[in-house]
Amino acid sequence: MNNVVLIGFMGTGKSTVGKKIAERLGFSYIDTDEVIEKTEKKKISEIFNEYGEKYFRDLETEVIKTLQDYDHFIIATGGGMVLRDENVKMLKALGPLVLLYTNPDVIFERIKSVQNRPLIEEDKLDKIKEILKQRDPIYSKVADFKVDTSLLAIDEVVDIILKELKK
Ligand code: S3P
Repeated sequence: MNNVVLIGFMGTGKSTVGKKIAERLGFSYIDTDEVIEKTEKKKISEIFNEYGEKYFRDLETEVIKTLQDYDHFIIATGGGMVLRDENVKMLKALGPLVLLYTNPDVIFERIKSVQNRPLIEEDKLDKIKEILKQRDPIYSKVADFKVDTSLLAIDEVVDIILKELKK
């Protein structure tokens, strides 16, 4: 195994789980949103507001291109990263795609107090449901395996993923 790629919607625990898996496996951790914020020197919400979604999606594709030689990394991706086939292809070359998912109500509870979340600024629960309806088939199709994080503690999610990776 070279790397592990975490995919899934906002609030499904990708960064928290990713950091823990990295610790347990002795891998490094990288978050594509953080790379973009660092290189652009702007918050994701500012990038969306100032340049629009397409510009942000292009930045995501650029980040994945720069990761092609990475080895022994846990890569947490933004929730929309797998919407482009091109990105999925490059991610698959890096390692297995692990989908973290949960139901809209849990996502809502986890992110309701967070301001400046592009795409779900208003009518949050409805927006979450609407976007998930479009994305769920894509997430499921591209994932090598998936874990429902709704009722699990972080360490349980990590254990399940580590067990799956050993298979
Ligand atoms: C997005 C998810 C965010 C971030 C951006 C767009 C999406 O990442 O990339 O706001 O389209 O689902 P997280 O899933 O890490 O919150």
